[in-house]
Amino acid sequence: MIAIASDHGGFEYKKLIEEHLVSCGIEYKDFGTFSADACDYPDYAKPLCESILADECESGILICGTGIGMSITANRYPGIRAAVCTEAFSARATREHNNANVLCLGARVISPEKCIELTDIFLQTPFSNDERHIRRIEKIEH
Ligand code: RB5
Repeated sequence: MIAIASDHGGFEYKKLIEEHLVSCGIEYKDFGTFSADACDYPDYAKPLCESILADECESGILICGTGIGMSITANRYPGIRAAVCTEAFSARATREHNNANVLCLGARVISPEKCIELTDIFLQTPFSNDERHIRRIEKIEH
């Protein structure tokens, strides 16, 4: 199960990603926001992170205007590794190297097409399981 959430800045892109996930047969849980009315991104990032840490969802996608507010919020949670990505190389590398479990996207930064491309890369790229990357990830929190 993929968790997804946005603030008002990412609301339209959240709908786009959800349509894409449906077309791919991927199940998701939507943590809001549910309208384009102005709201506060931490209110949506927090429950999404908690659902991942509780193993209700395996990974998540957060969208705001820049992706940055969402990533700052998400990375306050030990066990969450959130990456703002604007291009394919980073989206792939953050899965392979960082085992990122949250992708953060900026709807005012990237095109709708890029948003879907990065979503696909993030969801399809496995962690490398390489010993050196495991060691580095463990050092983040210990
Ligand atoms: C909302 O205007 C905007 O600040 C928010 O979407 C996000 O970009 C914050 O990081």
